[in-house]
Amino acid sequence: RSVRVSGWGSYVPERVLSNADLERLVDTSDEWIRTRTGIRERRVAAPHETTATLAAIAAKRALAVAGLAPDDIDVIIVATLTPDYPMPSTAALVKEAVGNTTAAAFDIAAACSGFVFAYATADSYVRSGLARNVLVVGAELLTRFLDFDDRGTCILFGDGAGAVVLSASPEEGGGMAGLEMATDPDGAYMIWMPSGGSKSPPSSETSKRGEHFIRMEGRETYRYATRTLAASALAAIERAGWTPEEVDLFIPHQANARIIEAVAKGLKLPMDKMFVNIHKYGNTSAASVGIALDEAVREGRVKAGDKLVFVAFGAGFTS
Ligand code: UT7
Repeated sequence: RSVRVSGWGSYVPERVLSNADLERLVDTSDEWIRTRTGIRERRVAAPHETTATLAAIAAKRALAVAGLAPDDIDVIIVATLTPDYPMPSTAALVKEAVGNTTAAAFDIAAACSGFVFAYATADSYVRSGLARNVLVVGAELLTRFLDFDDRGTCILFGDGAGAVVLSASPEEGGGMAGLEMATDPDGAYMIWMPSGGSKSPPSSETSKRGEHFIRMEGRETYRYATRTLAASALAAIERAGWTPEEVDLFIPHQANARIIEAVAKGLKLPMDKMFVNIHKYGNTSAASVGIALDEAVREGRVKAGDKLVFVAFGAGFTS
């Protein structure tokens, strides 16, 4: 079956945390953050919000654009590294929140590549005929897992959610044209949360040591991203039988503006082919490509029939 994106939506919490606010928390400066990352501000969820509530708002917006009723959705996939609970899945909570009674719902754990991995999974369900409509949501509440004493990580991340609905299409040739997915376990401990899982269950000791916070080797991660992303995008483009020049817009994971510039340089493309909104939201991990896609459509940067490339990398390392 041919596949189309029938709906899109996003949600970011109201509260803005600016670089100036961070200057009051850690030894950093607006100038350092802007020049090293491109970030000016990020959003922080309100106390009553959770990853599932952020995801549900984005999901409802995507369903409204698609013109579908909740029970038209056959499968719900949520990509997140900050689920409400280890179990049940955040997707199960989103299913209830959007009022769906019929779909299978599950989470995908691929860190910042989560939205792209979930999108590829959803496309495969529709293409194979296993589902007619699949809801994909990338959602994160990262600010609750940041060590606000660690200036190397707390300045980077923010909260939000992005969603799409993929549907069976009556038109020929729609959907994913080429895919390159990789996981390189050499990077397994470059970005991680040391405790909370079976290897190091949460305890007062792990909590005192702050092991439930995100830890990151920034420089190594940066090197991996700049080495891998352009090559990964190029592999997918070649599988599609396209050239980089004929791609209308790249929607990259928003981790660092310099990493996005490296992708453009690696593909010998101008920066106006790259959608960038990191200045407003920072790195929202699995939510970032979904939020960026929704904004790109609403800003008129994407129209029906365009050739798009989604490219991301994250803990694992996944890409
Ligand atoms: O979605 C995937 C998630 N992760 C990423 O994408 C992260 C990828 N990595 C990066 O984006 C960059 O490595 C960072 C933005 C995290 C750091 O930038 P960098 O240019 O690689 O800086 P660095 O780690 O090499 O540090 C340079 C200096 C150090 O000081 P010294 O040793 O030169 O005196 C750091 O201590 O900058 C210092 N530094 C800071 N200074 C002010 C590190 N963080 C900060 C900060 N404010 N927030």
